[in-house]
Amino acid sequence: MNGIDTGILVIGSGIAGLTFALRVAEHADVVLVTKKASLDSNTNYAQGGIAAVVDSADSFADHVHDTLQAGAGLCHLDRVDTLVQSGPQAVADLVDWGVRFSESGGRLALGREGGHSHARIVHSQDKTGSAIEDALDRAVTNHERIQLLEDHMVLSLQVECLDGLRRCVGAWVLDVKSNALLPVRARATMLAAGGSAAIYCHTTNPAIATGDGVALAYRAGATVANMEFIQFHPTALYPAEEHAFLISEALRGEGAVLRNWNGDAFMGAYDRRKDLAPRDIVARAVHSEMRRSGKDHVWLDATGIAAQHLDARFPAILEGCRAKGVDARQEPIPVVPAAHYVCGGVWTDVDGRTSLPGLFAAGECACTGVHGANRLASNSLLEAVVFAERAASRMIWELPFVPAPSSDSWTHPDDLSGSLADGLARLRSDLRQLMWERLGIIRTVAEMRAGAVRLHEMRRDWSSLCGAAPRSKDGARWAEASELLNMLDVAGLVIRCALWRRESRGLHYVTDFPYKDNECFLRDSFVIPTD
Ligand code: SIN
Repeated sequence: MNGIDTGILVIGSGIAGLTFALRVAEHADVVLVTKKASLDSNTNYAQGGIAAVVDSADSFADHVHDTLQAGAGLCHLDRVDTLVQSGPQAVADLVDWGVRFSESGGRLALGREGGHSHARIVHSQDKTGSAIEDALDRAVTNHERIQLLEDHMVLSLQVECLDGLRRCVGAWVLDVKSNALLPVRARATMLAAGGSAAIYCHTTNPAIATGDGVALAYRAGATVANMEFIQFHPTALYPAEEHAFLISEALRGEGAVLRNWNGDAFMGAYDRRKDLAPRDIVARAVHSEMRRSGKDHVWLDATGIAAQHLDARFPAILEGCRAKGVDARQEPIPVVPAAHYVCGGVWTDVDGRTSLPGLFAAGECACTGVHGANRLASNSLLEAVVFAERAASRMIWELPFVPAPSSDSWTHPDDLSGSLADGLARLRSDLRQLMWERLGIIRTVAEMRAGAVRLHEMRRDWSSLCGAAPRSKDGARWAEASELLNMLDVAGLVIRCALWRRESRGLHYVTDFPYKDNECFLRDSFVIPTD
């Protein structure tokens, strides 16, 4: 059979996929698949930075403590310890790969964000994600053992049974431009396909964040966990369009203050940490102030910060506001919450291994146990680097013992029937609206149940539009249908986990059960696919 044979397949070109590829390519050939251009990723839009203990006045114990506090009882201490203690090395590795972080007085400049007891956010002005992505992308592009396939979308993971053991042996990949379907056979596969927040109609994520990694892994039989914990960022620029412009928490770290329509700084009424309380608390406070006033947004006031400092530290935010007619140096910025990050994902061990042998996961699509019920700001870029590097070490160690995949078990998805029809765009938009309305910042059981019923109908609609499997002569259309299937599956996992957790904890707030229930729910919400 034609196609590609490689040592390692990497799916996704954000910080986790690129870091991982660079490490394993020292030992094996790598094929890196990304559905758009390699720079299109959630990482690229990260403004804040990477949390790490690099200041002598800070301590690992404090970073661990802050992470556990934010995680509301569900963080796994051993994973958090690993994350935090690997922080300084992760930053050093990024510098070695060519990332340039902001400095002050000859040292790394450190920002402050919500939930952190110290200034510990290593950043590159307010464009940290793109600084990291640019440097890693350059290193990957120049690496002779990494084959980069842009505009290639993974349609399904391939699983084969060897001596009674199921294992992942690669994936079916669609070349979106030529419409060719390629089997990519690999001894091991890394899923680093990014986030899922584009299942919401208001999100800080780009439209590509459709939960592909979680959906692919789940359909292949890997365990998924904690999908109910959707983080809403409290401050996206209003009006929050399809891809809302983020106003980084770092701005509050430098002194910006949330104000309601009376001009009052309201966060003191909700939490002693005021504007630097963990993100779940701030997002609910903003939501509550909007309800109280009947208005569509609140205000973020950065006018107390010296204009010169704003210019130097937040050029991209000032520019983004200016493009919408707001001069953030002179007037408050209209802001509204938007879906930002999914704490759950494909469950992994401390070395990135999923429950499906041969399949690893890292970055936002993974659930490593570090975020618990609420991710501490700027811990996600750190998590991506630390666990991608651990997964690389583990995979390199395992690789000599892994047999090459056979070609026999590969069933060409072309054998399935079906043709694409119109209506995909409408279905996608209905789904995103549904998630916003039924699975938002404040939830009720009745609304979540209604969401589950409607989602079931949407999944049926998808099947009647696309057939048993989407096929089309137009690769872009085929990719669109597959992406929508992933979104529907991920939305189903969110609803399933959310309905199971009959308590309020971290990012999951249900008015029917407004308190934590440690007796029943001090545990992860696993979804284990059944054959
Ligand atoms: C932000 O800059 O506010 C976002 C940082 C993050 O999501 O960790």
